[in-house]
Amino acid sequence: MTPSTSTFSARLNQTAKLVEATLEALLADNARHGEAARPARLMAAMRHAALGGGKRLRPFLTIEAARLFGSEGQGALRAGSAVELLHCYSLVHDDLPSMDDDDLRRGRPTVHRAYDEATAILAGDALQTLAFEVLASPETDADPALRSDLVLGLARASGLGGMVGGQMLDLSAEGRYGSVAMDEAEIRRLQMMKTGAILTFSVEAGAILGRADASARRSVVEYGRALGAAFQVADDILDREASAEALGKRTGKDREKGKATLVDLLGLEGAKRECGRLVEQADAALAGFGEKAQILREAVRFVVEREV
Ligand code: IPE
Ligand code: IPE
Ligand code: MG
Ligand code: MG
Ligand code: MG
Repeated sequence: MTPSTSTFSARLNQTAKLVEATLEALLADNARHGEAARPARLMAAMRHAALGGGKRLRPFLTIEAARLFGSEGQGALRAGSAVELLHCYSLVHDDLPSMDDDDLRRGRPTVHRAYDEATAILAGDALQTLAFEVLASPETDADPALRSDLVLGLARASGLGGMVGGQMLDLSAEGRYGSVAMDEAEIRRLQMMKTGAILTFSVEAGAILGRADASARRSVVEYGRALGAAFQVADDILDREASAEALGKRTGKDREKGKATLVDLLGLEGAKRECGRLVEQADAALAGFGEKAQILREAVRFVVEREV
């Protein structure tokens, strides 16, 4: 392990602890302002979904991108935690019997297995709305225009033209609504939507909080797109190569379900070459930032080299 890898892991772990504490506080049992009650079963399922696992890569990206623009406050931790809540909701729904039908997530039973399907759907719904509540809250940033920019960005990244739309294409590509053959460009678009959009927003949120100018924000978004694309290709490689014990989720499932992936299209070696190309693309987007973007350069390498 090179010194820079160990520094990177230490920083990622440190951020994960801060995120865990933030999520713990947001998912406390007692009702908060404006809430009549927090139903115990729903709370337990939401906590199961959001606490005690995960790499917390999205909040890490928000925090490090904000730092690139000199923003060090609680705002990035809260905004990053909001993205993590949204991500956790997407995992709960992704695992449902009607979607990917998975029993294991982050090394534990999926929410519909630990509770039941209706509770899992509602837990996902409530994690999603909580994410937007956190972004819209003045505790995240005093400037209402900035908060509105964050809310708009997360809505676009996670909805129809982003994650949810991508999930629809992902299910369609399995052939469950009639046969579809996807070419490379269509697979890339699907992946950009289902996974890339939220990862891109994670980085963009940091630029928003750091009040980056339009050109710097564009560069950071370009970096996020390359990282997001690399992330899903790496996920698909891990699905083919890693074990469920190591990953904490079932593997070999993409092939079994006939998912459209670049591993399927380009083969494992081709997909790995593609990861290398995307790392170069991410580096190129950061060229104007010099040394202070080093941690983001390491982040994209982590994404393609990770074993979980
Ligand atoms: C898994 O995301 C789902 C995809 C978007 C491919 P992560 O690999 O970031 O999952 P956690 O949060 O670390 O569990
Ligand atoms: C999931 O992609 C993407 C979202 C949750 C939006 P996958 O279905 O490949 O994720 P895993 O492999 O179950 O984590
Ligand atoms: Mg899926
Ligand atoms: Mg899945
Ligand atoms: Mg996968």
